[in-house]
Amino acid sequence: MSETTLMVCALCRFSAQERSRDGVSGGQYLIDQLRQELTARNLQNTVHIEPLRCMAGCHQPCNVSVAAPGKLTFIMSGVDPATEAPQVSEFCQQYTAAEDGRVPYRDRPPEIRRATAFVLPPLPTHAAPPSSEISHA
Ligand code: FES
Repeated sequence: MSETTLMVCALCRFSAQERSRDGVSGGQYLIDQLRQELTARNLQNTVHIEPLRCMAGCHQPCNVSVAAPGKLTFIMSGVDPATEAPQVSEFCQQYTAAEDGRVPYRDRPPEIRRATAFVLPPLPTHAAPPSSEISHA
């Protein structure tokens, strides 16, 4: 099982009509729910929540990304902070268990299928050039 980074925009609204509840943004509420859900799945030391300040998807809150070295990156929009932390947590468990992060589409929670906006391939790894090719000033 590899380590996973779960990036969550802490500033997202609850919805277009509702910025916050009791002074808590939708994104922060989602983060709080995700911490509980991940702990319930014993993933608190495997899935690291990285709160971000805006992911440029403000018109479609909440915004979340799941990534790990050598794996696909999933970018999700429109995650409902009030109800969908369990599904995001379940997907993180599936993703963490998948060698390349390729969770079969049919196995993903329906909420994750709907919210997935982009799936990116793993970043390429570029080998350093041989020392003879390094130019010196
Ligand atoms: S405020 Fe969340 S994406 Fe901009």
